[in-house]
Amino acid sequence: MKIALIGFGTVGQGLAQILRDQAAQLRAQYGFSAEIVAVATRSRGSLVHPAGLNPAALLDAIRAGSLDAYPDTPGLQRAWHSERIARDADADVLVEASPSDLDTGGPALDLCYAALTSGKHVVLANKGPVVVAYAELMAAAQAAGKRLLFEATVMAGTPSLRLALEALAGAEITRARGIINGTTNYILTQMETGMSFDDALAQAQALGYAEADPTADVDGWDAAGKARILSAALFGRTRRFEEMTVEGIRGLTQADIAHASEAGERWKLIAEVTRDAVTVRPVRVPLAHPLAGVSGGTNAITYTTALLGDVTLVGAGAGGVQTGFGLLGDLLALHRCGA
Ligand SMILES: NC(=O)c1ccc[n+]([C@@H]2O[C@H](COP(=O)([O-])OP(=O)(O)OC[C@H]3O[C@@H](n4cnc5c(N)ncnc54)[C@H](OP(=O)(O)O)[C@@H]3O)[C@@H](O)[C@H]2O)c1
Repeated sequence: MKIALIGFGTVGQGLAQILRDQAAQLRAQYGFSAEIVAVATRSRGSLVHPAGLNPAALLDAIRAGSLDAYPDTPGLQRAWHSERIARDADADVLVEASPSDLDTGGPALDLCYAALTSGKHVVLANKGPVVVAYAELMAAAQAAGKRLLFEATVMAGTPSLRLALEALAGAEITRARGIINGTTNYILTQMETGMSFDDALAQAQALGYAEADPTADVDGWDAAGKARILSAALFGRTRRFEEMTVEGIRGLTQADIAHASEAGERWKLIAEVTRDAVTVRPVRVPLAHPLAGVSGGTNAITYTTALLGDVTLVGAGAGGVQTGFGLLGDLLALHRCGA
């Protein structure tokens, strides 16, 4: 499988690391072998090689500061821009791992269309295109006879979408309720130890969990974007932010935390998705509920089904290798269906 990779930061490097370290096992166990034939960044160069780029050398180069440090080899081309890679690279799949723009989809949205119309499947870690244009992209994929997969966009490599769409197919999911933003869950967990919101946020930033501008996390927008993806994937319902109730955790105080604790409950930022509505807001969850025990940066989702009752999945919601694994899961799914 030939992969063109847009974005070579935490996630792109996580995928390259997996392909570097697991290639022999993936080939032996699943008959899967993948080559990165193109990789693009915004400011740190881009590379194209029809015969494949060496993942170890790619990682060495980017860790040295730029893909320009990748050794020259016959056939290597440099400085293709992302649009040209998406359209013209000789690849089976475009993997998109550039920053998410939840308002416009960002440049990635056009790259997805370019890839699909030029005969490539699309696999996304980038939430933007799916949040903004799920229905249009699915239609474009169908028209092109290609697939659009996005497991890594919700709970990184923890298979939230695959569980719902494949393992629980036929069980009739009526509701999803989840902790799908690790930063806010980390902050809430720290607040339970007596820390103020501001101190917990500062600690999350120092540890690299929260961005310098934490708005998307603490005000609920990151979770809301993922909830939109769940709504579209589970129920075929595309939603605009204006149609949703979105509230973050900024307003929670130590007194709120204490009152919940006295009542045998715990505050969690819960995204709830049904056929009819999507909400993201802090909720007091009884300690006995599986979501109450999910602490720190961990994510979790409970699917309520007609045939099985509640099914809860707990796991990593971020990280380079963890999200790279989400991408790998989609690539293996394409491989299994003969793509
Ligand atoms: N990190 C996670 O745990 C995680 C989990 C789930 C989903 N995601 C999603 O995965 C995506 C990547 O996240 P990340 O953490 O890897 O981000 P990151 O570390 O900031 O890396 C982003 C990469 O994209 C490149 N880039 C930016 N604009 C580009 C453009 N127009 N064309 C080509 N490349 C471009 C950057 O290049 P420069 O270095 O030159 O700027 C960088 O290589 C995001 O959409 C994120 O929401 C991340």
